[in-house]
Amino acid sequence: MNILVTGGAGFIGSHTLVELYRAGHTAVVVDNLSNANREALNRVAEIIGLQEPIPFHHMDIRDRKGLEYVMQKSHFDACIHFAGLKAVGESVAKPWEYYENNIGGTLVLLDVLRHNGCKNIIFSSSATVYGDPAQIPITEECPKGHCTNPYGQTKSMLEEIMRDMQHADKEWNVVLLRYFNPIGAHPSGRIGEDPKGIPNNLMPYVTQVAVGKLKELGVFGNDYDTPDGTGVRDYIHVVDLARGHVKALQAIERNCGLAIYNLGTGHGYSVLDMVKAFEHANGIKIPYSIKPRRAGDIATCYSNPAKAERELGWHAEYDLDDMCRDAWNWQKNNPEGYGEDNDTEQ
Ligand code: NAD
Ligand code: UD1
Repeated sequence: MNILVTGGAGFIGSHTLVELYRAGHTAVVVDNLSNANREALNRVAEIIGLQEPIPFHHMDIRDRKGLEYVMQKSHFDACIHFAGLKAVGESVAKPWEYYENNIGGTLVLLDVLRHNGCKNIIFSSSATVYGDPAQIPITEECPKGHCTNPYGQTKSMLEEIMRDMQHADKEWNVVLLRYFNPIGAHPSGRIGEDPKGIPNNLMPYVTQVAVGKLKELGVFGNDYDTPDGTGVRDYIHVVDLARGHVKALQAIERNCGLAIYNLGTGHGYSVLDMVKAFEHANGIKIPYSIKPRRAGDIATCYSNPAKAERELGWHAEYDLDDMCRDAWNWQKNNPEGYGEDNDTEQ
């Protein structure tokens, strides 16, 4: 299939491109590089041994004319839609920017897709739509919860928008993938997560402590109702997550209509488990201190991924050791991430 990949230069998008090409698909990337570097796409081409660059448009998904041009230049069988802003704290400070980019951008994208005969979409949703989950482990039937921040609201609202569109027009196939906590990097160490500034998420913070850029990890609370008092999450290797998208394309080929899947491992690990796992996998000590709870955090969040196994034949293959090893392999080989991006071409 030929796939339009929005946000394809980002963390999950770049890893998904590798798996798409490996499975025999081709892709065209649209990314405004607001949180990515063009070098990621060069590295993807290098990993898969492509002679020519990955087709890329430095473009915003809110640019309707630009998207029309891209759609008219090639035929697309499906769109994988990663493009969006994703920093929870920033979304609280800049709600309008998050609603405008994530919801405004997706509305333009959906309209251009349908008017150009491409009614197949895979959407990057998040476990955040479950809020403080009503049940653990979380199945897809678990009711959606109250999202405490605008970022989470955009994911939840976009799910409803796509659900309603698919309900009204059965030509649409919509796959909503609810990611748990993607970490790690491609085992080659050539692509990985490249957060701007001080990382918000646990694993990039840990790797930056390991590389000496940050002094110590702050553990946000040790008084949760969990085995060791620290927050428990379902960490999943980004390559496993990427492969979930290839499986979701097969569901689209079978005309799945609306389909929702959790992409997680089904295992919950605490913050201190993660520190120990990183130390064990890489032989590096991670100094840490206990800090107050972070606003908006929940105690425990992990998936029941049985539906994806049953219907997509997908399950996570990498374990925690692999995730910690690959995250560090990326960080130590690329201490400055992809470096400065001087690309201003539109
Ligand atoms: P990322 O920031 O690395 O990738 C998103 C990409 O979208 C970036 O390359 C950015 O430049 C691009 N982008 C943003 N707004 C755009 C716009 N208006 N037009 C064109 N491009 C735009 O993030 P990621 O971790 O790869 O996440 C990909 C998707 O998965 C996001 O939608 C995110 O919300 C979702 N998600 C991520 C996680 C996670 O933990 N990383 C968890 C759940 C869901
Ligand atoms: C966060 C977002 C969530 C988003 C997800 C993936 C919040 C409140 N939630 O989830 O909406 O979908 O990222 O991008 O930001 N921790 C520390 N010290 C740190 C960083 C994290 O102790 O420096 C702890 C957290 O308290 C949590 C765990 O580590 O218990 C994981 O945190 P993080 O990686 O930020 O992911 P989530 O909070 O699960």
